[in-house]
Amino acid sequence: MMQTNFWVSKKVLITGHTGFKGSWLSLWLQHLGADVYGYSSSLPVSEPHLYGIAQVSKNMDSMYGDILDYERLQIFIQKIQPEIIFHLAAQPLVRESYIEPIATFSTNVMGTVHLLEAARHTESVRLVINVTTDKCYENSSNSLLGFIEKNPVGGSDPYSASKACSEIVTTAYERSFYTNSSKLLSSARAGNVIGGGDWATDRIIPDIIRSITNKQPLNIRYPQAIRPWQHVLDCLNGYLLLAQKMWESGEKYIGSWNFGPGESSIISVAQLIEECNKYLGNKLEVLYESDTQPYEATTLVLNSEKAEKLLNWGIELPVKQSIEWTMDWYRNYMSNSLNDLTLRQISNYEKIKAARLS
Ligand SMILES: NC(=O)c1ccc[n+]([C@@H]2O[C@H](COP(=O)([O-])OP(=O)(O)OC[C@H]3O[C@@H](n4cnc5c(N)ncnc54)[C@H](O)[C@@H]3O)[C@@H](O)[C@H]2O)c1
Repeated sequence: MMQTNFWVSKKVLITGHTGFKGSWLSLWLQHLGADVYGYSSSLPVSEPHLYGIAQVSKNMDSMYGDILDYERLQIFIQKIQPEIIFHLAAQPLVRESYIEPIATFSTNVMGTVHLLEAARHTESVRLVINVTTDKCYENSSNSLLGFIEKNPVGGSDPYSASKACSEIVTTAYERSFYTNSSKLLSSARAGNVIGGGDWATDRIIPDIIRSITNKQPLNIRYPQAIRPWQHVLDCLNGYLLLAQKMWESGEKYIGSWNFGPGESSIISVAQLIEECNKYLGNKLEVLYESDTQPYEATTLVLNSEKAEKLLNWGIELPVKQSIEWTMDWYRNYMSNSLNDLTLRQISNYEKIKAARLS
């Protein structure tokens, strides 16, 4: 039986807390009663950004610094003595990784090394979860059933390869330094997360929102590309459940974990846009650059049976509801109540989850 007040007063460090997922995770953990700390670059990830809009920093202590500044990171971790660490700081965009491969590999690979090294020298740390991606798998091993955790990692573009390297670093640290210590280490793999407050470049939901606010048509190259879509809260719920299980039950839960949506969450970009447009009062004008060519890239599907069975994790928000919540968030954007709305969506999510489990 999992403790419901597990997070109360737990000291939790989130790297990348100023980003899209990091902001949601920070607010959720604050809401659960944890003592939350953050370490991220000083530059905002986008303009605007959820971190500022939802006043994420109000109830946590933050340090702004590069993950590649080992000394600064180590001093901060030593000072706060966290018990649980979620490592999200990364360069997360595929297209950016072609433009800035050195920065991408540095942040995503050496950043992970720095974090795991600092954590292993900090006595208070009980567990670390390294957040990677569904793109860390070597594509040749794709199967209709989806990738399972044991499939080999790899990557053809700099971002995917850097995350595969981050996975290898995690395994090496676990085997070399964490085994037989009091610390536990895991990695979490998910992809195509949607939710309010994302303004990253080259992601479909932020592109839709920018088109609406700039009153410009949205150009879409591959409307028939199909993707599994997942609400950010379903993904973060996986990270939280994993951390709690690792804390409560130990070694059995170390390793890698997939948190992907099921088949019913796989829809085309065109369907996603159509669904979003419904909630936006059909104000979005879309220009399809080539709507006849089938999309060639393989669709990444994660098999998440391990998390479903061992963590009792599952998708609480089906794809249409995920889109509705996401559009609801953006519709409220610019109002003064986004902190309330973000927390309300967290509470509603918890109710849905509790109802399924009862
Ligand atoms: N959003 C998605 O759909 C998605 C999908 C799969 C995996 N992920 C992974 O989840 C994590 C978070 O993604 P996100 O979408 O929130 O990204 P984001 O760009 O919104 O946030 C990235 C965070 O990392 C920090 N960061 C970047 N470089 C840094 C550096 N050198 N030093 C210190 N901090 C640095 C940024 O300041 C920010 O806080 C990443 O590891 C990403 O690869 C995201």
